[in-house]
Amino acid sequence: MTDSPLLQDRRLGRNQMTGLTVLGLETSCDETAAAVVRRSADGAVRVLSSVVASQIAQHAPYGGVVPEIAARSHVEAIDAIAAQAMDEAGLSYEDLDGVAATAGPGLVGGVMVGLAFGKAVALARSLPLVAVNHLEGHAVSARLGAEVAYPFLLLLVSGGHCQLLEVGGVGACRRLGTTMDDAAGEAFDKIAKTLGLPYPGGPALERLAVGGDPERYPLPRARLGHKDCDFSFSGLKTAAARIAEGLTMEPERRDLAAAVQTAIARQLRERTERAMDLYAQAHEGEALRFVVAGGVAANSAVRATLEQAAGARGFSFTAPPLAYCTDNAAMIALAGVERLALGISDPLDAPARPRWPLDAAAAAANPSHLAGRKGAKA
Ligand code: KG4
Ligand code: ZN
Repeated sequence: MTDSPLLQDRRLGRNQMTGLTVLGLETSCDETAAAVVRRSADGAVRVLSSVVASQIAQHAPYGGVVPEIAARSHVEAIDAIAAQAMDEAGLSYEDLDGVAATAGPGLVGGVMVGLAFGKAVALARSLPLVAVNHLEGHAVSARLGAEVAYPFLLLLVSGGHCQLLEVGGVGACRRLGTTMDDAAGEAFDKIAKTLGLPYPGGPALERLAVGGDPERYPLPRARLGHKDCDFSFSGLKTAAARIAEGLTMEPERRDLAAAVQTAIARQLRERTERAMDLYAQAHEGEALRFVVAGGVAANSAVRATLEQAAGARGFSFTAPPLAYCTDNAAMIALAGVERLALGISDPLDAPARPRWPLDAAAAAANPSHLAGRKGAKA
């Protein structure tokens, strides 16, 4: 059962004038996160608290996320993390206007934990529930640090996703490109593993690459010249793994790390430039905005390369503050705020969804992009 539409309307009517304050919950992968975000009536967004409990140490011995361990660990942590987020925000549940929980895509055991917790809070406190698409959370994450108006071109680049999307507004996404195999973050993680670096590999590889010579090891340039906006990282992964096998000396490993980082940044730039050209044609005479989001957006070489590409094509460039690039609940809370402001909420029987593409039509039309591990999140 959920609030009657009338009760929700009254609540939203009141808060459209005073602003909206939402508790966000995120449990789709290996972070148990809770946050409180407030958007005032004038549109200003403030993160009142953002707590992220990483499970990295529990998964590290296995070199990647183990779904059963993740789900169990979310169950153990969610109570205390949510209480801490409320505490740090200095609010009680009566001060909230809604609860937003990630409902997918992701590891379904974990998603169910956060979503069930969110439903319990919504039911107990008579609050509207928003079942948030994790990708929509990433899509709005840049708005936690800067004002970015709709529409914008989004490169969503994380451990589970690598997509170019035209974001027209809340829930209005058109996919321009996606990965044919691995996501960019996954490529970082797998190549880092072959270099003997700990999980998650992206940040470790970035640290190793400092001062390295990116030209020492030539790596393949996948999809160069292709007219679409799709990505592929498997060739790069294989080539880098072959080179890494023979390397033991630190300077050589550093050079390979630099070459890999440069190659990934370059492919992200080349595919994004194609999407920028398409987007610019479709939005002639309008302000052109580009946003990069997701864990890989924390990489400074990737950020710099994309910022340069955006500048050269007349796009503004926005990336989320570093803390909101990787998974967090502030972005889920903000997605909840944006939906509630439009009067959108979900029933208490909203399902947890392991697969939930942002652009369902594009995903259905091109099922080859749903194959493999990335399928669950793409
Ligand atoms: O957004 P996120 O926390 O989770 C998903 O939704 O997938 O992204 C995690 C991914 C991991 O693959 C991690 O290695 C990568 O983002 N990542 C980085 C960096 N920080 C995180 N990759 C490259 N450089 C970084 N600094
Ligand atoms: Zn994510």
